[in-house]
Amino acid sequence: MDDFAYRDGSLHAEGVALSRLADRAGTPTFVYSGATLQRHVASLRSAFAELDPLICFSVKSCPNLGVLRTVAAAGCGMDVVSPGELQRALAAGVAPERLAYAGVGKSRTALEEAITLGVGCVNIESAEELELAARVAAELRRPASLALRVNPDVDAGTHRHTTTGVRTTKFGVGIERAEELFDRLRDHSFARLEGLHLHIGSPVLNADRYSEALRITLELVDRLRHRGHAIRVIDLGGGFGADYESGQSPAPADYAAAIVPLVRPLRERGVRFLLEPGRFIAANAGVLLVRVIRVKREAGKTFVICDAGMNALLRPSHYDAFHFIWPAQPREGLVPSRRAADPGLSGLERCDVVGPLCETGDYLALDRPLPPLREGDLLAVFTAGAYGMSMSSRYNAQPLPAEVLVEGERASVVRRRETLTDLIAHEMTPTPLAL
Ligand code: LLP
Repeated sequence: MDDFAYRDGSLHAEGVALSRLADRAGTPTFVYSGATLQRHVASLRSAFAELDPLICFSVKSCPNLGVLRTVAAAGCGMDVVSPGELQRALAAGVAPERLAYAGVGKSRTALEEAITLGVGCVNIESAEELELAARVAAELRRPASLALRVNPDVDAGTHRHTTTGVRTTKFGVGIERAEELFDRLRDHSFARLEGLHLHIGSPVLNADRYSEALRITLELVDRLRHRGHAIRVIDLGGGFGADYESGQSPAPADYAAAIVPLVRPLRERGVRFLLEPGRFIAANAGVLLVRVIRVKREAGKTFVICDAGMNALLRPSHYDAFHFIWPAQPREGLVPSRRAADPGLSGLERCDVVGPLCETGDYLALDRPLPPLREGDLLAVFTAGAYGMSMSSRYNAQPLPAEVLVEGERASVVRRRETLTDLIAHEMTPTPLAL
């Protein structure tokens, strides 16, 4: 599953002991495993080999340049949603034609940049954006390769904050409008609407939801063909799950089994496919290391107060998400054999693992059985590589964590820890506005 494992009672990332790493790098720190990132890319590629898809790593899940360079070297393109993410993908060495550009709020400037660069697939989220993209392409006199994001009205069965394929969300256009929008661009000299984009939510733990969404979309492909619109690209989006608990998520082969048979005929006709996985590649490739500041016993409860909480990892608080947490060097040899809410060991104590912030919602886990803990212990929060650092904040004037990439026996700081000086740097000199 990943390259984080206990050896001699001590948690390692590949060949590096995390206690040693934390002594050098400090905490809170996100640690990524290069080998896990690469293996996840390879396993997707092999499961979907028949489609030979361009795997566009979803930058929003883990935008660190060290991570992006690793997945780019493994052959990935990238899925970006803003000029900032575009900049990161380019800085990681990804060619513009290997990018998919999504997002409901692309500005005119963003569209101009995407079209000028020749982004491979600009995913259009509304009729209004389609008009603007076509106008921009004409003004720039540049070909623009566009795909229409359709909303199939399929419930991905995930958290309401990350459900995107039902009609009432802001994403994509209703499937019944698609033909009319394709017609509008039929003879455009520069903008080519030649693709369809789907992304129904994240994570999608039931692979059948992909089949459901695809069946609806494939009917549209047929209708479009009869109207003279050839679909050359289908971007299947992201949403593949990760193991927050051992064995929780379907495997790439399960997703492929739901998807590949449906689109095989299109592949045979030369249609190209894109995937936009983020979580599947990055989540289990990262842990967050936090240090116990204090163990507080009060009102019959045990609070393990750490040096970071929702500021570093918002997911437990924001989505009620489960992240397995365990000491990097557990006492009494209490090494878990699986990652689960109940790891099946005795001698544990139920704790709330909380951060230092002034909010009751500032927690990493509630009522979680853990080995005996003391001040100074190092905890690993697992499956934190996706939507961890990318959703972190400076709330309560907490500097952003450091990020470290491990490759074999080597560890490199790929983002230095913010300093207190960094926190006030943009506010030191008020600039008068010329009104
Ligand atoms: N493509 C599009 C258009 C997306 O909106 C997303 C994620 C992805 C691909 C990648 O999805 P993935 O393969 O990572 O599931 N912050 C939430 C997840 C939000 C996902 C937003 N869009 C979380 O922490 O669970």
